[in-house]
This record gives sequence, C-alpha cells and structure tokens, in this order.
Amino acid sequence: MKYLLALCLFALPGFAEETGLTDPALIAAGQQAFLDYCSACHGEEALGENGPDIQGSILKDVTMAVKGIDQMPEIWLEDGEPEAIAAFLMSLNPKVAEIKLRLEAAKRN
Ligand code: HEC
Repeated sequence: MKYLLALCLFALPGFAEETGLTDPALIAAGQQAFLDYCSACHGEEALGENGPDIQGSILKDVTMAVKGIDQMPEIWLEDGEPEAIAAFLMSLNPKVAEIKLRLEAAKRN
C-alpha cells in the first residue's frame, strides 16, 4: 500500500531524475524497503555492518549493487523500490549524494 504513492509519483514526467528523489513519502517508503532488504548487512542507518557504509548512495549505486557484487548477493526489488531506497540513502548523507551526482553528471558531459 505505501508503495502506491511512490509509484504514482514515478509516473510523473521527470520524477525519476535523481536530484528529485527528495519526497518525504518516498524516503519513508525507501526506509521501509531498506529495513526489509538491506539493513541486515548494511545496518539500520546504512553505516555498515557485514557490508560497507552506503550512506549517500545514489540510484546508480543501488541498481548496480542489487545485481550482486562480490560478497553481496543479487537482490530482487519491486518496480519503484530502487528509487525509494536511493532516496532514503541520499537523505542520510546529502553531501555525499551531491558529490556522487556531480561526478555522474561530469561523466555524462
Ligand atoms: C547479504 C548481505 C547484504 C545485503 C542483504 C545487502 N548488501 Fe549491499 N553489500 C554487501 C557487501 C558485502 C558489499 C560489499 C561488496 C564488495 O564490494 O565486496 C555491499 C555493497 C553495497 C553497495 C556499495 C557498492 C559500491 O561499491 O559502491 C551498495 C550501494 C549496496 N551494497 C546497496 C545495497 C542495497 C540497496 C541493499 C538492499 C536492497 C543491499 N545492499 C543489501 C552486502 C549486502
């Protein structure tokens, strides 16, 4: 149910832009998904446990990681969940997220 709102938001043109992933409802949905799928390894605050500190990760980091990397298994997420999780992780460390987004933008140019 809580994902419905997030999914409606994704339907809006341009919303998937990572810099727009700041909606509080989306962040809340992302926190729930993170607690369900990720916190066992990365810790409740994403500061690291059995996996690294991933605060400030952007959408690209999430979509790459859930395909599986080294010790991290592949994780299957519903449509919209990667965006919500990225919104949550970005909200935990906006500075790191901003740097990552700038680096990505620079790569595209
Ligand atoms: C079973 C434990 C486990 C779970 C569950 C898990 N991870 Fe990981 N994750 C890891 C480990 C271990 C690494 C470090 C992998 C490496 O580089 O060797 C990692 C790395 C990452 C990275 C860093 C990639 C990079 O190199 O910058 C991101 C982002 C990430 N995970 C996101 C997630 C997200 C989002 C979820 C939930 C959908 C999740 N992880 C669930 C264990 C886990």
